Amino acid sequence: MKGVILAGGKGTRLFPLTRVTNKHLLPIYNEPMIYYPIKTLAAAGIKDIMIVVGGESIGDFLRLLGSGREFGVNLTYRCQEGADGIPVALALAKEFAGGERIMVVLGDNVMDESLKGEAQKFEDNKKSSCHIFLKEVHDPQRYGVVELKGDKVVAIYEKPAQPPSNLCVTGVYMFDSTVFGVIPTLKPSKRGELEIVDVLLHYLGESRLSWSRLKSYWTDAGTLEAWFEANSIVREKRKG
Ligand code: TTP
Repeated sequence: MKGVILAGGKGTRLFPLTRVTNKHLLPIYNEPMIYYPIKTLAAAGIKDIMIVVGGESIGDFLRLLGSGREFGVNLTYRCQEGADGIPVALALAKEFAGGERIMVVLGDNVMDESLKGEAQKFEDNKKSSCHIFLKEVHDPQRYGVVELKGDKVVAIYEKPAQPPSNLCVTGVYMFDSTVFGVIPTLKPSKRGELEIVDVLLHYLGESRLSWSRLKSYWTDAGTLEAWFEANSIVREKRKG
């Protein structure tokens, strides 16, 4: 399996911190944010990783991360012109994926869990084309939220006013190569972007969506509060 980290976007919710610095280069306690998704993929046993970055920051990433040797992985970089949505960034990894299954991590997802077992299960599960990782959160209104019937996901709602559960869709996904055929069929949402939730809904409609729950700490550090909280939690853990 190959890995893809999406580290483009504008990071407007962290302005002015991200006016000059790419969001994923901001610190989470003692390491840049981008280290976390790289370590998540490396811990899942993935060696070949593509990082998709906006053109203005790609040199900074190269200077910081180089070949990836420090993490025991091989890094490839790809430039996303503009910031038209997560599926647009993901589509840039088509040739890199080369028909293999991929694990995709959004660059601002900070977590601390080995997904090696789940990656192996997904490789073996030919009934699923898309795997999502869910996490209980106290503020589900700000995420994509699933509705479960028994152990089946029956619906996914984007930022629902009345969430059917407190289980949000995290920014860690696994796909088979059909995802690169689904993305070109998507239509822009009201905010003019392609939306990853529409990719997930496609697989839900085809009954080819599987899921599991993250057991340990997870956050997306894309708002000031979440970024600050991620710093505090990692600090507590690292202080030992
Ligand atoms: P978001 O947090 O939805 O978008 P953003 O990073 O631009 O931030 P803001 O909403 O504050 O303006 O994106 C989640 C992750 O997806 C982010 O860490 C980077 C990645 N991403 C891309 O790689 N390309 C894109 O075009 C977008 C929108 C996001």
